[in-house]
Amino acid sequence: MPPDVLLSDGRPRTWTARVRCKDGDHTLDLTHREVVAERLLRTSRKHSFDPDVDVDWDAPQDPDTFYLPPQLVSIYETPLWDGLTHRRRVELSKREMCSIASFGIWSEMLLMQSLVMHAYRHRYDSDHVAYALTEIADECRHSKMFGRMVRTCGLRTHRPRAPEFHFAKVFGAVYDPMPMFAGTLVVEEFTDAFQRLTFPDEDVQPMIRQVTRIHVIEEVRHIKYAREELKRLVAKLPAVRRRMAAYGLAQATRLTSAQVIHPSCYEAVGLDPTLARRVAARSPHRRETLAWAFRKCTAFFDEVGFLDGRARGVWVRAGLLKP
Ligand SMILES: [Fe+2]
Ligand SMILES: [Fe+2]
Repeated sequence: MPPDVLLSDGRPRTWTARVRCKDGDHTLDLTHREVVAERLLRTSRKHSFDPDVDVDWDAPQDPDTFYLPPQLVSIYETPLWDGLTHRRRVELSKREMCSIASFGIWSEMLLMQSLVMHAYRHRYDSDHVAYALTEIADECRHSKMFGRMVRTCGLRTHRPRAPEFHFAKVFGAVYDPMPMFAGTLVVEEFTDAFQRLTFPDEDVQPMIRQVTRIHVIEEVRHIKYAREELKRLVAKLPAVRRRMAAYGLAQATRLTSAQVIHPSCYEAVGLDPTLARRVAARSPHRRETLAWAFRKCTAFFDEVGFLDGRARGVWVRAGLLKP
């Protein structure tokens, strides 16, 4: 056996596991926690940002320039969108961008809390814990960056609705790594897809492009960490626990994805928020966009048996996955 196949303590660096799903068996390639963490720490050392100095917060904001590519605005290609002036469309793009950022801060706070609980339970001198702490530091900077971005846009952040806010306050304090890492992927892969279209777009506000670029670069490793940990967990736990977590996650995703855009965004441009939310939920373009934004996440969930059982139907009915 070549020496690089084993860690210094004799454990294998990589191995494979089998996950049995209704649609057949899936083979997962697993990598030792320490090997993954060591690579992620190396990348973190090379590619980390300080948003306080790496973003030009004083960049002028042209009132006719979008804050989010228009095709990512919730009511794009609907009669409501057609009825808005250019300035109002820009205003709606700004409000939606800031609403997504507010949702991002809320979910990053929950993630930071979970990562502390995760690190607490592992060996403190391991690279796995060192990386968890590095990710907490990244998310700390991100949440501050998003808060500053919203303020620089002249707006205020939103809290989620009371049911989501209080539910997460209570259940977020319980350590359960499977829903924690799967939930992390839902939020990170969705925002990543939106931001990957935003930062290279020359027709978007420069300050927003800088913020989203930093976030995309730093989130790549968070996604890797969560994916690798979720694979290790599903390989070990009984299928029934995996299915329960997958179903709970599908329902939570359905409920929270409908709340990402705060109703006040629509009110601010003179639209009825109830009507606008309904129009967005039924819009073929919006459903297509959300299924596209979740595509990497759902493909991965399929691979690890997280769309198994009743979970798949929930994703499809919510318009987040193509049938
Ligand atoms: Fe983040
Ligand atoms: Fe993250």
